[in-house]
Amino acid sequence: MNEPGIWLPQASSEAAATDTILIALLVVSSAIVLLVAGLITVFAIRYRKGSPASREPLPSIFARDVEFGWTFATLGLFIAIFAWAASQNITLAHPPAARMEIHVLAKRWMWKVEHAGGQGEIDELHVPAGELVELIMQSEDVIHSFYVPAFRVKQDVVPGHTERLRFTPEKPGTYHLFCAEYCGTDHSRMIGRVVVQSPEEFAAWLTRQPQEDDLAKSGRQLFVRFGCAGCHEGQASVRAPRLSGLFGAPVQLADGRTVTADDAYVRDSILQPKRDIVAGYDPVMPSFAGVVSDGEIAGLTAYIRALRAPADGGVY
Ligand code: CUA
Repeated sequence: MNEPGIWLPQASSEAAATDTILIALLVVSSAIVLLVAGLITVFAIRYRKGSPASREPLPSIFARDVEFGWTFATLGLFIAIFAWAASQNITLAHPPAARMEIHVLAKRWMWKVEHAGGQGEIDELHVPAGELVELIMQSEDVIHSFYVPAFRVKQDVVPGHTERLRFTPEKPGTYHLFCAEYCGTDHSRMIGRVVVQSPEEFAAWLTRQPQEDDLAKSGRQLFVRFGCAGCHEGQASVRAPRLSGLFGAPVQLADGRTVTADDAYVRDSILQPKRDIVAGYDPVMPSFAGVVSDGEIAGLTAYIRALRAPADGGVY
């Protein structure tokens, strides 16, 4: 897998930037530690018991200047490093729009991956090199944490939240995937592999994958099983909003606000339907809290997302 050594391979474009900050912090901290340790040693020898060195106090103005200078110089230095690291995190959080979205469902004790085309993987993630990848992650039970050391990225996956993690893999190869949050008996076995392939290899890999456990397709089955179709489809559209073309579009609410129909909106609409009432509709939808699991919400959301383009009918 990864070559052994002190340094992990830098397998994503985030890795080099993270390492540069780490090394800068290490160099600055080492320089300060050496300076302090050196001064302590020099003073300990110079002012040892019985040495003839002068013990006259320095002029107080000089002592104050040294104290202020030392305190503010180190403070400024570390604020600068903080700002540098923060700016990298902000860049990570606001990437360019073009990206490849991959759904990841964490549960005790496995990582279930669902590609946009419905290809599924367990404890494995295939990604193309050079492409900005966005993982959309949910947990079905407890807190897990998606950690790929070679990419220098880690993201906790908290149940009830949709977590996003972006990175650009660069170096083809196979890298460790760990769960970095203690999650029970088999936490230590909740490990996997991230396989970075060239774009051509990745495309070939995608077409070789069976697609039977398509997330959106299972979402469609849930949509019927939970009775959503009864109100949100066909002739019943008087009672409930239609969902074709909904995902990603603005929604006018009864209280005058306009919100965007994203993952969080779909989730809230299923679990707390009385909270955001769509303008023109009655608050008649029951809550499905405790009825649908997070994994099922991921499926339903994928189905609704697939309904985005009314042109292809959204039919499976
Ligand atoms: Cu999942 Cu530790």
